[in-house]
Amino acid sequence: MSRVYNFSAGPSFLPESVLLRAREEFLDWHGTGMSALELSHRSEEFIGIAEQAESDLREVMSIPPNYKVLFLHGGGTGQFAAVPLNLLSENKSGAYIHTGYWSGMAIEEARQFGEIHVAASGKDSGFTLIPPRESWVIPFNAAYLHYTSNETVNGVEFHTVPDVGDVPLVCDLSSNILSRSVDVSRFAISYAGAQKNMGPAGVTVVIVRDDVIRHNPHGVPSILDYERQAASGSFVNTPPTYSWYFVGLVLDWVREQGGVDVIEQHNIRKSQKLYSAIDASPFYSNPVPTEFRSRMNIPFHLADPSLEKKFAADARAAGLTTLEGHRSIGGIRASLYNAMPEAGVDALIAFMAEFERKYG
Ligand SMILES: Cc1ncc(COP(=O)(O)O)c(C=O)c1O
Repeated sequence: MSRVYNFSAGPSFLPESVLLRAREEFLDWHGTGMSALELSHRSEEFIGIAEQAESDLREVMSIPPNYKVLFLHGGGTGQFAAVPLNLLSENKSGAYIHTGYWSGMAIEEARQFGEIHVAASGKDSGFTLIPPRESWVIPFNAAYLHYTSNETVNGVEFHTVPDVGDVPLVCDLSSNILSRSVDVSRFAISYAGAQKNMGPAGVTVVIVRDDVIRHNPHGVPSILDYERQAASGSFVNTPPTYSWYFVGLVLDWVREQGGVDVIEQHNIRKSQKLYSAIDASPFYSNPVPTEFRSRMNIPFHLADPSLEKKFAADARAAGLTTLEGHRSIGGIRASLYNAMPEAGVDALIAFMAEFERKYG
């Protein structure tokens, strides 16, 4: 079977050249007679792979030297716990911007570990917009402010980094990392699971500024403890070696594309094409105002919602897969991560026009 255009929100489409390279190296990584899957994490070979991936990530994201880059288990969800566990202390609270499903999950998880304030919420808009910065109420004792730069389910994206003064800013970059230039030095902590723009599930990148790494914080499990992970080079336990290796392959591909700036221009073009097709038709609609629309995840509805199942099934039969919306809101969702070529977006737009012609 030929490869399909996979619009999954994650794990998601990967560049074919990366998959081919992984296949080529699979049985015998660089003449070792072993797969990268089989290398000891303590071996010179794996340490080389790990260091190279870190240095490539530092280069493509311009990560300053006063930040540690950790490659951890536990996904974005692990960081929902790690952030309050590492940053909260007595009389301090965590502030959150609630812009949709995933920031909501971060808030719920953090509530288990301390006092949490929702500084602003897009709930009244049905999570279709980002509350204006002037309306945010950040408590005086905030140890940090957490936000989700791209809401994967709701299709809402921050297009600038908010200014929160001296409050350490924590950003969940899970679904738009490497999709656009971002000034990492604005964050105390940023993190992302790899399974959207960086590679397979199983490894989570955490970029943490040295001064927020606390010495020996009380009651933090060692695998979530930034200090212990930083001191051990993310080797507190056996790291997710194959996923880490794979991130390195994806980073090579990012560089081959010309880097994040070039990829960002592709992402702007791809997403604009799809939004234009949606806006041009009374048959399709996206509820998010232009200035908050995500370039990565584009949810939309059909005028007749009873046709949505058929839309996704027919699309799948036409080689355009995983267009079902998230189970919490339904509808259709097209995820246009870095690896989705413009031809995939064109094919989706052509399919949408044909579906509308038949059933509109
Ligand atoms: C923005 C965002 N944050 C966090 C998560 C949770 O990530 P994980 O499944 O790696 O825990 C997701 C998953 O899709 C996400 O999209």
